[in-house]
Amino acid sequence: MVKEKKSSCRIISVVNQKGGVGKSTSAVNVSAYLGQSGFKTLLIDMDPQSNATSGLGIYPENIKKSSYDAIINFEIPAKTVLKTDYENLDIMPSSEKLSGAEVELVSNFKREYRLKDIIDQLSSEYDYILIDCSPALGLLTINALTASGEVLIPLQCEYYALEGIARLLKTVDLVKHNLNKSLEISGVVLTMYTRTRLSDQAVKEIRKYFPGKVFKTIIPRNVRLAEAPSFGEPILSYDPSCRGARAYESLTKELLDRHRYKLKERELKKEIEPLSKKIKVFWDTGAAPRHAASKKKQ
Ligand SMILES: Nc1ncnc2c1ncn2[C@@H]1O[C@H](COP(=O)(O)OP(=O)(O)OP(=O)(O)O)[C@@H](O)[C@H]1O
Ligand SMILES: [Mg+2]
Repeated sequence: MVKEKKSSCRIISVVNQKGGVGKSTSAVNVSAYLGQSGFKTLLIDMDPQSNATSGLGIYPENIKKSSYDAIINFEIPAKTVLKTDYENLDIMPSSEKLSGAEVELVSNFKREYRLKDIIDQLSSEYDYILIDCSPALGLLTINALTASGEVLIPLQCEYYALEGIARLLKTVDLVKHNLNKSLEISGVVLTMYTRTRLSDQAVKEIRKYFPGKVFKTIIPRNVRLAEAPSFGEPILSYDPSCRGARAYESLTKELLDRHRYKLKERELKKEIEPLSKKIKVFWDTGAAPRHAASKKKQ
């Protein structure tokens, strides 16, 4: 039976078609900190490179079913999900086979909605679902965007950071207008920052390009973050006190704060909307209170 979707489940795609900008590192570490903060979290690996999967200590010999089976073979989604060693964190692992999925999906009915159908069957179990995307804007990434409420874009603090970004934003826009109206860019995360003039210049330019969207937390280039995946551990377990760990912990807090703020904003809007409608009627007719009273008398 398909459980009712948890309205509070937030689905976030980590996307940038540029390779090596910190998508998997961000997806793994933010997921792990969300779990540690008490939020039931699922990380879906949608990249055939399987970096998020191995980054959480799950290797091909432990994987019976993967995101490929859920998407292409219509496997029951819950059967492809594995528990990790980390608090409140599950993963839908990827496998090499996923590299063929783009071609296999082409002839599929509702091919852009496969991942959305899968997530609809899982979202009641989770507070957060993060999707680690491959460095491409093909059908798999379109599936991730169609299934998500938000996009998180990691950008490396380097000279060419914004290269290709127009194409990414156009893709997000196309998905928003044709497949998923509720898609929003939740934020841009700056990664691999080094204390150089070049990095500082990149930060400045990115902040100018995305006003209000860039997270305050900047992820530094930190060797412990680069080492952790080779031990199959997120940074909160590998070296929780290093600079990289503190940065990802702070980024997760910021993400949670933004979400709380949005929820409050939505609640306030719900309270204010009926009031503002009444006020509008009053201004338009000048008779709202009397009108209401006369209605009562009848
Ligand atoms: N803040 C950081 N400091 C140092 N190394 C990092 C940092 N973030 C990521 N790395 C390293 O940089 C490389 C690329 O990072 P990552 O795999 O997260 O990027 P990606 O965008 O997911 O790449 P791909 O596009 O191939 O999926 C990895 O070796 C990773 O360990
Ligand atoms: Mg990756």
